[in-house]
Amino acid sequence: MKQILVTGGAGYIGSAAVKALVEKGYEVVVVDNLSKGVKELVDKKAKFYKVDLIDKEALDNVFQENEIDAVMHFAAYKAVGESMENAVKYSDNIKGTINLLDMMVKYNVNKIIYSSSAAVYGEPKYNPIDEKHPTEPCNYYGFTKLECESLIRWYGKVHDIDYVSLRYFNVAGDSGLGYIDPNALNIIPIIMEAATGKRDKLIIFGDDYDTRDGSCVRDYIDVNDLVRAHILALDINSSEIINLGTSDGTTVKELVKAATDIVGKEFNYEIGERRKGDPAKLVASNKKAKEILGWKPEKDIKDMLESTFKAYNKNL
Ligand SMILES: NC(=O)c1ccc[n+]([C@@H]2O[C@H](COP(=O)([O-])OP(=O)(O)OC[C@H]3O[C@@H](n4cnc5c(N)ncnc54)[C@H](O)[C@@H]3O)[C@@H](O)[C@H]2O)c1
Repeated sequence: MKQILVTGGAGYIGSAAVKALVEKGYEVVVVDNLSKGVKELVDKKAKFYKVDLIDKEALDNVFQENEIDAVMHFAAYKAVGESMENAVKYSDNIKGTINLLDMMVKYNVNKIIYSSSAAVYGEPKYNPIDEKHPTEPCNYYGFTKLECESLIRWYGKVHDIDYVSLRYFNVAGDSGLGYIDPNALNIIPIIMEAATGKRDKLIIFGDDYDTRDGSCVRDYIDVNDLVRAHILALDINSSEIINLGTSDGTTVKELVKAATDIVGKEFNYEIGERRKGDPAKLVASNKKAKEILGWKPEKDIKDMLESTFKAYNKNL
């Protein structure tokens, strides 16, 4: 396998994957509509197309001009809140995936690694969440991710395409590209903004949950570990759905403490009300990832905070 098409390759995770693939000697073709992605993040050795996946003709041209062997499909809109206000926009996640699968059939590309999400599970019925956990998304974004998984599975059956759907929980850390989310919605970027003075304070939503310190527990995966799992997935010969997590997890208060140590000074935070629909604990089992991919996370939460802090400092 030589040439990999990376959709969403100008985004946070996609650009890290492009960098790692190029370093491993793959030829990389990137498709991104730059709605959120940044072209400068794309490794110069990759071939870049500013194409929206819903533009089937433009996508056809990309497949025609290249000899693609496999696809890593990262492109998607991913803001949960926005997805509950604009289903029309988020339906492009589904339409774009159908177009991509159609092109794979047309050009005989028979391997896809798909960026799925913990959002497919909805409210956790137990922890750590394994791949047999019921899938009942509670927002439209999660629905689009689950729908794309189903489409990929059906195209896989009908057209003999191998797939690996990787369900991620919270991705963090820096790949070395210094990516900064301009519209921070996740806790680690928010902590960094509070710690570097870009934001007044961090609000911890509730500290009366039934967890070890009362704050919510979430599962964080370093972006480099995540990308490594994708590259391992290129080489397996079966179709799989696999969670990528630590089987453990970190509370919000633990995150704040670790960030304070790394930043070297206290920053403002306050305890706010619980947010509606926030489960106390969301942690992924990585048993299957170990068995099938021979993968386990190598970086811990301190590594993720440290590399993120460095990236924020560079951009100050
Ligand atoms: N970041 C996380 O914590 C996380 C967790 C679970 C799943 N995911 C999934 O991982 C993938 C990558 O996430 P990310 O954090 O890098 O997000 P991101 O927004 O940084 O990257 C997504 C990229 O896709 C591009 N894109 C979006 N829609 C497109 C379309 N129709 N056509 C072409 N390009 C399009 C955007 O411009 C962007 O560059 C997404 O599919 C997301 O659902 C991310």
